[in-house]
Amino acid sequence: MLQLSNITVSIQGSRILRGVNLTIPERSLVCLMGRNGVGKTTTLKSIVGLMKTDTGSVKLAGKELVGLAPDARAREGIGYVPQGRDIFPHLTVWENLKIGLVVHGIRSVEPVDRVLELFPILKEFLQRKGGVLSGGQQQQLAIARALLTDPKILILDEPTEGIQPNIIDLIGDTLIKIKKEGKISILLVEQYLDFCLSVGDSFYIMDRGAVVAEGPIAQLNDDVVKKHLTV
Ligand SMILES: Nc1ncnc2c1ncn2[C@@H]1O[C@H](COP(=O)(O)OP(=O)(O)OP(=O)(O)O)[C@@H](O)[C@H]1O
Ligand SMILES: [Mg+2]
Repeated sequence: MLQLSNITVSIQGSRILRGVNLTIPERSLVCLMGRNGVGKTTTLKSIVGLMKTDTGSVKLAGKELVGLAPDARAREGIGYVPQGRDIFPHLTVWENLKIGLVVHGIRSVEPVDRVLELFPILKEFLQRKGGVLSGGQQQQLAIARALLTDPKILILDEPTEGIQPNIIDLIGDTLIKIKKEGKISILLVEQYLDFCLSVGDSFYIMDRGAVVAEGPIAQLNDDVVKKHLTV
């Protein structure tokens, strides 16, 4: 579904990504892992179009995305939930969702009903301001907003960061459900190992701007973790 080949990125003359290769197959959930500052978010930004790439290709369902602006990439089927969630705190839950529709030129509100079924708590809180929701509820709102555009791939940057365990489980269950419906592949950047083990089909680990390990999730054993993930 999504294929990155030889992506390099430099910021102010220093090389941040050094030839990243990733494949996210259809109907799968891929975890991208790695310690702080190794280039995970930069990799996601280069997929979404928020970071200029020096070389390489990003193909979604066979179509080249390099050269397209972020909004054009979103229309091609990229749904993105950034690190830190990024909802509008002064707007209500309903307004946050509506902005997702307006930005993408979607006139019907039918997609909202669909995502609210996935996140029932949001339905109860439609008139509350985004800023008064808990971290976990804000994360659900951010995911719901990304799903409104009916993406081919959902890209999430550390959705469990700072969220209480019961909501982490709920988010995990929802991601598995979305994946099982079979229409959306998921690329998940995550440092929380147990979460990856419970939701992932396969993993990639990055170190200093490149992929250093990959495989089916069952191969993410203690040796691999010790070598590449523990500090
Ligand atoms: N705008 C920027 N200007 C300068 N350096 C940057 C910028 N964005 C990222 N970097 C550097 O690029 C490297 C990779 O950053 P990136 O945010 O992709 O890492 P990460 O793996 O997502 O880390 P974390 O786990 O902390 O979120 C880091 O060394 C970071 O300092
Ligand atoms: Mg990051």
